[in-house]
Amino acid sequence: MKMRAAVLEEFGEPLVIQELDLADPGPGEVLVRLVACGVCHTDLYTASGVDPSGYSPTVLGHEGAGVVEAVGEGVTDVAPGDHVVTLFSPQCRECVHCLDPRTNLCLAIREQQNLGYLPDGTARLSRDGEPIRHFMGTSTFAEYTVMPQIALAKVHPEAALEAACLFACGLSTGLGAAMFTAKVQPGSTCVVFGAGMVGLGAVAGCRLQGAERIICVDLSEDRLELATGQGATDVWVGGEGTVEKVLEETGGFGADYTFEATGNVNVMRQAVESARMGWGLATVAGVAGKGETLDVIPRFLITGRRIAGSSFGGVKGRDGVPMLVDRYLAGDIDVDPFISHRITLDEVNKGFELMEAQDGIRSVIEFR
Ligand SMILES: NC(=O)c1ccc[n+]([C@@H]2O[C@H](COP(=O)([O-])OP(=O)(O)OC[C@H]3O[C@@H](n4cnc5c(N)ncnc54)[C@H](O)[C@@H]3O)[C@@H](O)[C@H]2O)c1
Ligand SMILES: [Zn+2]
Ligand SMILES: [Zn+2]
Repeated sequence: MKMRAAVLEEFGEPLVIQELDLADPGPGEVLVRLVACGVCHTDLYTASGVDPSGYSPTVLGHEGAGVVEAVGEGVTDVAPGDHVVTLFSPQCRECVHCLDPRTNLCLAIREQQNLGYLPDGTARLSRDGEPIRHFMGTSTFAEYTVMPQIALAKVHPEAALEAACLFACGLSTGLGAAMFTAKVQPGSTCVVFGAGMVGLGAVAGCRLQGAERIICVDLSEDRLELATGQGATDVWVGGEGTVEKVLEETGGFGADYTFEATGNVNVMRQAVESARMGWGLATVAGVAGKGETLDVIPRFLITGRRIAGSSFGGVKGRDGVPMLVDRYLAGDIDVDPFISHRITLDEVNKGFELMEAQDGIRSVIEFR
């Protein structure tokens, strides 16, 4: 079939919206009509050419939500008409990681996905017979996509897909960091560094876990106001003295849980040093630049602090995303404040500009 998509042709250049060919779904694959897609930092990171593993031409986009149009042979978990959220982090339910509750890092299709292909090592996207690679196994800056069924989360049909798409990446990452990676205990004191999509999600996750005190630290007053809306009890403008301030406010001990959602290694260090002596857990969600390292004084670890990393919030996508979307439907998670701009596919480059200007939290592409 023919469909329109935003193609990364040259790194550092605007995406080019054009017509592409999309082949039918193969065995185990699903054709999805996109209804909404968030524009995320990872898309911009790849488009800019900074990501050393990036490739082109490719169709970017990974925060998608849509409706199943057709299924390939052997697909049993979704059917035409189902509402789905795309998963760059799949869940095959069979590999050694999927069978273990300690991780969400499914091993099933990693290699081909990283190369830009579907699990059988080929692409469904093409232009004049030339294959175009799939980005993050999703390629959702497009009217349609073909994806393996193990990378689609079937969500409640009443959930607005403009909101559901945010659960495809940043929001689930933040919520999950608090709920699944750290497993915040009721009555805790938490510090969240960063109030972008991920940090705000972590604030909401701490609230859902019953944390008593949730301190959110950011450089932007506007973003801190959003943090208050998500349940932060204290909002601070960050900087050099933040660790000392956390210690002062916690009787000299530090916070039970800290979360880093900035991608800055100095802030990661602050998150470790603000965690409580004895049992404090620092959860790192931010992605640092290539080659950067996190400096930790070993004494902080000997005295009982721990550090955890969190990819996609530890969420096993096909189980966890529908559950989080249900909590949104139940009124537990306020998603609307995250949708700052609604744009069309043709305006996707404007979505990047808004992000670079830190204007709002998310631009969401609406397909019609
Ligand atoms: N682990 C994962 O699976 C995963 C998924 C999505 C995003 N990420 C990463 O998470 C990080 C956050 O993503 P986002 O979309 O929320 O980004 P964002 O840029 O929207 O938010 C980052 C926030 O950090 C704040 N910040 C910067 N320096 C700070 C400082 N010194 N102290 C306090 N706050 C500071 C900024 O003001 C900004 O509000 C990024 O590194 C992103 O790549 C990770
Ligand atoms: Zn993302
Ligand atoms: Zn798996």
